[in-house]
Formats: sequence, C-alpha cells, structure tokens
Amino acid sequence: MIAQDNNAVIHREDYQPPLYRITDVALNVHLDPENTEVEARLHFQRLGSEPVSVLHLDGESLELLSVLRDGQPLAENLFRSDATGLTLLNPEPEFVLETRVRIHPAANSTLSGLYFAGGQFLTQCEAEGFRRITYYLDRPDCLAKFTVTLHASRKTCPVLLANGNCIAQGDEDNDWHWARWEDPYPKPAYLFAMVAGDLAVQRDVFVTQSGRSVTLEIYVAERDLGACDQAMESLKRAMRWDEEVYGREYDLDRYMIVATDSFNMGAMENKGLNIFNSKYVLASPETATDTDYQGVESVIAHEYFHNWTGNRVTLRDWFQLSLKEGLTVFRDQEFSADMNSRGVQRIGDVRRLRAAQFPEDAGPLAHPVRPDAYSEINNFYTATVYEKGAELVRMIHTLLGREGFRRGTDLYFERHDGHAVTIEDFVEAMEEANHYDLSRFRRWYSQAGTPQVKAEGSYDPKSRSYTLTLQQSTPATTGQASKEPVPVPVRLALLNTQGEKAVLDKTGATEKVILLEQASQSWTFEDLPDPVIPSLLRGFSAPVRLDITLDDQARSFLACVDDDPFNRWESAQELALKTLLAGVKNHQGLEVLPAALKQALSATLKQSQMDPAFRAELLTLPSEDYIGEQMPVIAVEAIHQARETLLDKIGAHFHDEWLGLYQDLAGAYDRDGASIGRRRLRNMALSYLIHSDHSRHEDMTLHARQQYVQADNMTDRLAAFQLLVQHPKHDAEDILLDFYQKWQDYPLVIDKWFAIQAMAPRLDTLRHVQHLLVHPVFDWKVPNRVRAVLGAFTMNPTLFHAADGSGYAFFAEQIRRLDDINPQTAARLATPLSRWQRYDKVRQQGMMHALQLLAAKTNLSRDLAEVIQRSYP
Ligand code: ARG
Ligand code: ZN
Repeated sequence: MIAQDNNAVIHREDYQPPLYRITDVALNVHLDPENTEVEARLHFQRLGSEPVSVLHLDGESLELLSVLRDGQPLAENLFRSDATGLTLLNPEPEFVLETRVRIHPAANSTLSGLYFAGGQFLTQCEAEGFRRITYYLDRPDCLAKFTVTLHASRKTCPVLLANGNCIAQGDEDNDWHWARWEDPYPKPAYLFAMVAGDLAVQRDVFVTQSGRSVTLEIYVAERDLGACDQAMESLKRAMRWDEEVYGREYDLDRYMIVATDSFNMGAMENKGLNIFNSKYVLASPETATDTDYQGVESVIAHEYFHNWTGNRVTLRDWFQLSLKEGLTVFRDQEFSADMNSRGVQRIGDVRRLRAAQFPEDAGPLAHPVRPDAYSEINNFYTATVYEKGAELVRMIHTLLGREGFRRGTDLYFERHDGHAVTIEDFVEAMEEANHYDLSRFRRWYSQAGTPQVKAEGSYDPKSRSYTLTLQQSTPATTGQASKEPVPVPVRLALLNTQGEKAVLDKTGATEKVILLEQASQSWTFEDLPDPVIPSLLRGFSAPVRLDITLDDQARSFLACVDDDPFNRWESAQELALKTLLAGVKNHQGLEVLPAALKQALSATLKQSQMDPAFRAELLTLPSEDYIGEQMPVIAVEAIHQARETLLDKIGAHFHDEWLGLYQDLAGAYDRDGASIGRRRLRNMALSYLIHSDHSRHEDMTLHARQQYVQADNMTDRLAAFQLLVQHPKHDAEDILLDFYQKWQDYPLVIDKWFAIQAMAPRLDTLRHVQHLLVHPVFDWKVPNRVRAVLGAFTMNPTLFHAADGSGYAFFAEQIRRLDDINPQTAARLATPLSRWQRYDKVRQQGMMHALQLLAAKTNLSRDLAEVIQRSYP
C-alpha cells in the first residue's frame, strides 16, 4: 500500500489549481547538525468560495512537535499527520498555521531539503525539498513572501544567509546569534534557500543600466578566496548581457553565490542566493582546466539568467520544467557564443545534445520536452528537458528572427511577471508578438523521439536548376506509436565548385531557411549556372538526424570550404565516421587512410591562420559512443579497436605535422581565447604523437612526461597526465602518486584523478576501480566523488560493457549501495543500463540481470524504482 503510493504516477492532465494561497511565510530555524527545529508561521487564504473539507500540506521526514491554528493548539480531530504530510480537516477560509518540527541535517545524505555537509548548513529545495524542512503547499504555483530568521552558533556559523535582504541581526545566549532575512518577491518554495557556516566572501559591485548598485558576493572556504575571479567576472558579464540582449535588469540589492562540494547537480538559482557545486565556482590556472573555466562561465550565467526566466516568471507545475530550463539553456548558450567563438560553441552544444539527448530520445526513457507523466520529478531533469528544450527555443528564434524573438520575450515578461505559467503561455506570447502561427510547432513539445530527415537533391544542367526533396519521419517511442510531421527549419546554402555560395532567389540571398512541414516536400532553385553541392541544416538549425547521400569527394570539399563552421565540422566528422564504420565492419581496422579523409585532415593541418580551437574540433574523431549510436547493434570492442587504429594511422601519417604543431604552439600561459585554442590544439597534437608511437617505436610518452612535469597550468598538466595514465601499455604509477600528493587538498582536482583512472581503457581497470572505492578519500556522500568513479566508469565502454558482464555486475552492486545514501544520484547514474536493447544478446542479458538485481533491492527508492521500471520493455 505504502509502496504503491510512493510510486504513484502523476499526470499532467490532472493539474488542479491550489485550494488555498499562502500569502506570508515566517520561518524561525534553530540550526543544529543533529537536531534542527523549524518553526513555521503560514498565513492561509482560501482561493475559491466553496468550503474545503481536506487541505493536504506536503511534509517528508519531519518530526511534528506542535501545531497551532490562530494561536491555539489545533484540536486532534482537525488534523492528521503521516509520512506524506499534514492534513487539515475542515479548515477555515482564512487562518494562520504555526507548526514546529524537528529535522536532522547531518543525517540527511540525500542532499535534498536542509543538510549539513563540510561544516555548513545548506538547502536544496528544487524540485520538492522544501517539504523536508516544514509542512507546506510544496508546488511551484504557490507563491508567498518569505521572512526567515536563522539561529546558530556564532563560532561554527559566523555567516547566516537566506533569500533577499538581511533586515536585522543580533546575539543570543550561549554564543549563539541570529539573522533575519526578508525576500520582497513572492516566490515558490523551490526557490527558498538558507546557508550557515564559516565562509569567507569575495565582494564586488555591479551598476545596473538604470544606475542601481548591486552588491555581488561569492561565499567560499577561506582558502578558496583566490579562485573566485572567473565566477565574479562571468557574473558581471552575464548581468550586462541580459540587460543588452533582453533588457532584463537585476531586481535586488544583493546577489549571493555559495559554493559547496556536496551538491547533487550543477547549481541552483534560489532567489538572490544561488547555491553552487564548487566545480562551477572555483577556478585557478593551477587547478582548473580551460574546460572548467568555460563551465564556470556558462553555469554562473545560467543561474543568473534564471532570475527572469524561472524566478520572476515561474512554473505552474513541474511538467512545465522546460519552460525555464530549455529557455535558460538557450540563453546561456547564446551568452557563451557571444563571449567566445560562436562556431566552436555551437559544435560543443550539438556534441552534447547528440551524446546525451539523442540516445535518451531513442531509448525506453524517451519522453517529450513537456512530459505527460512522472513518478519522481527529479528523474526529469534530463537532456531532453534541458538540451532538446533549448533547441526548440532556438528554432523559434530562427523562425522569428532576433528581433521577433525579442518582441516575444518582451511580451512574455510583461504579461507573466510574478506569475506561475506554462509552456503554452510562452508559445502564445511568441505567436502574438509576431502574428506567427506556431500551432504545428507545438508538436515538438508533445512528441518524443528524434525526427529523421532524408535529403535528396539533383542538379539539372538543362534547366539550370537544383531540386531538393526532404522527407521526415519520427520513430515510435514508448507510449507514442505514431508521430506527426513537425516543422523543421532547414538553413541551407548551395556551394558551386569554386566553393562560392550560389544566389538562391531574386533578393540575392545566398543562405536561407526553408521550412519542412509535411512528411515530404520539394524545393527548386533556379538560375544556377553550375552544379552545386548542398550545405544543409547549417548551424544545426533543427535537432534532427540528417540523412544525406554525398560522395567522399563532396564531403571532403565541404570539410575544406564550407563557410558555416558547424557544417564544415560535420563534413569532417562524417568522413571520419564513414572510415570508422568501415573499420568496425572488417574488424581488422583499415589498411590505409582513405584519400578523402587524408585530404581533409591535411587541409586543416595546413590552415595555420585558422582559429586553433576550431582546427582542433575539425581534427577530433567522433567518440566511441557516437560511432555506436550509428550502428544497429553497438559493437563495443570493434568500435574501440577501429578508433584506436585510425588514431594510430593519423598519428603516424602526419607525425611530422603533429610534432611541428606541438613545438610551434608552445607558449606562455594566458587566459584569452587564442591561448585556450592553442593549448587545445597542442594537446591534441601530443595525443596523436603518442598514437604515432605504436608504429614508430619512439618513445613519444617522453614528451608527455616532460609536459606533465613542466606544466604551469592544469590544462596542460592534466592532458599529459591523462595520456600517460590511460595509455594501454605505459606504467604510470609514479605519475599517479605524484599527482595525488600534489593535489590531495583540492577535492575538485582529486575528482579528476579518480575519473581519469576509472575511464582508462586498460585491462586492469575494473580491479583498479574496486580499489578506488575503498581509497581513504573516496566518499559515498559526496556526489562529485561518486560520479568521478562510478559515472566515469559508465563512460568507459570496453570496461563497463565488458562481454563477461563483470562491469554491469560490479556497477549494479554499487548503485544498490548508493541508493540508500543518495537516491537522486543513484537513479541518474543508473540510466545507462536502460540502453540494453542496443547491445548484443549476451550483453543484453548482463544489463537485464543488473536491472533485476536493483529491482529486487529492499527499500528501493522511488527515484531508482522509476528508472528501472521504465527501462523494462
Ligand atoms: N534549476 C537547477 C538548474 O538550473 C537545477 C536544480 C535541479 N535539482 C534537482 N535536485 N532536481 O539547473
Ligand atoms: Zn536551470
């Protein structure tokens, strides 16, 4: 009975508005790691005119101490409390409820609600953590004004923070003190936050476009104060960008960010008081790679942008999650594109989409961007809701143009500021501001699965015209057998044999967006004197799989001349992919480098004027996962072999070029884009040099050892470290030890140390990973650490998918253990097991067995139960 309740499925169609509103919340929190007491004073007002017989307040893991209504103890026949909350019977139309509960922050390893970790009190309330702090209408459409008073020991918690403004503070007996915070903006409980601990602060000031001064504060451990500059600078750039691009100004006098090592996700946009995984705050050249720096910039921006897209305008219910996440990811991607290289940014975004979202959309966990049902909402913070959601917003942007899109967001903010709304409201604002019909476009939000677009084109010299035919279809997904066509914006250009873009119409346009709306449509382009090669889906203008037959020569041509960076990269990838798939087929790998691929690589190697970061992208081979994605049955070992062989061949064939690049690109450490690109390309050259070594028998690892020792920054040091540790034949014990000793006091660096070992494609890795789990600094309670070992292991295809099933069995054992500690993280880590259909029979059995092992666990969490249940056919 309880188990059934626990796994109850919630449907979008069943949405009911709340029966009551809560106008004001006053919390009094006495912080103690073992036993914290929370007093809540809630002012309720009935919303309808009908009497209400039952009002349920959510509550979880709360020990009820007392409950008063309008100052009097509430009679026992007027309420009930159980594991799901507090039920009020026949409540008055208006009343003040006062509850007192006891909770246990130090024992809370779920990291949801109030928890005590690393000597600090922290909260995480999205999605449903507030109910673990006090009884409440814990739903995003219930907006209230909060006043929060924190009480704690002054010695252990000199800093006391909550949302909004600090309005009073003072001392108490026994060395305790208190602080009262007031947030003037009504908000849903998921945006509530409080923090208490011994924290140092870096301050700055931002002057908004209207001339208001905002105090910016980043709270970290004292010794991390030197590592906050990237976060602070990124925050100021994001604030300026949102003013310039969207006309959105910050609305409080203070913006606070707190960093913690104990966090389930990336970061959280609590009003005025963001709480961050320290991975996305701390960065110094010695400890953070260039990629880490970029991660800080984009997550800081993401959480800041939520202040308007998420907080000022919030969600009606959790099915609308992509309303804030898709839109905010789109905004942070565009911000990063404006701050860095647009082309390289787009390639990275699409790479992530294809690595995480496409497989999700093709497997049993597939769901629409706006899901229809869930049992545990935390399982829906997915690549589909975030990344595909961002792609949908991007398509609207493409269809309406930059100015049209801005008209749409202006209307959206004007209409819905201060309200809890739906995806439908957003789409309507876009339509109405532009008199543009998005009725069919809405299918993108309700249909799961990645559409496939097949393109066929031919040039007719007689009529001097090019005809392009596009066909679309979307494969069936669980619960959605048949699919309708969706509008697919296809940005295109036609390149003549000189590589020039042909004029496409009377306006003289050489690039345009055509809209594929039907299952099949054709377009004819006239007045073309020469044959043309199509450059389709430029900038990846829609999240589809494009199937176009182009011969090697055409691909190689596009890889050398296409002026759309994304498509140029895509052509290079396609050439490499074709070679790799051929290598997988004949198992021996390939004999020689195909001419077209060689030509494309050689052209890129010669382009010394080109942005080195983009050059590095062009020279990167598709990942093993991506290769597997293209095959009906993922041939784990053959893929690994084929890719290694191709790396060896490219390394050996261009050995002198790689060596030249490696030497020429050396330079002093700097943080500008050009230096970042240079390091990226140089480290890629080093990796190819190590590969060339197999055939040349020279010890290229010497270069790596030298670089490891001499590097003055983490990007170069880690690149060398990884090459040495993951080399199948190299013994790197000394380097492993050295790295550990150098960085043992830096948890984020030690996470890298763990992850690189867990990802090594070496025969002894499983045994090694077993040792890592009992290493003195391995900690089951710290998600970053757990992900660094178990998450990294799932990204090690030959080991995780070992044919004897050892990887799966080991993994399932660990997830079982983790589920009792942190169900959210356990459920998320377990999702690779859902892809069992993609493997051969033997592996399928191993994966099913692992799922069964988990299903049989006692006290299985709702989080993990839902993932397992949906993974079955
Ligand atoms: N809203 C946060 C973000 O912007 C994600 C928080 C999700 N946390 C969770 N436990 N589900 O990405
Ligand atoms: Zn977000």
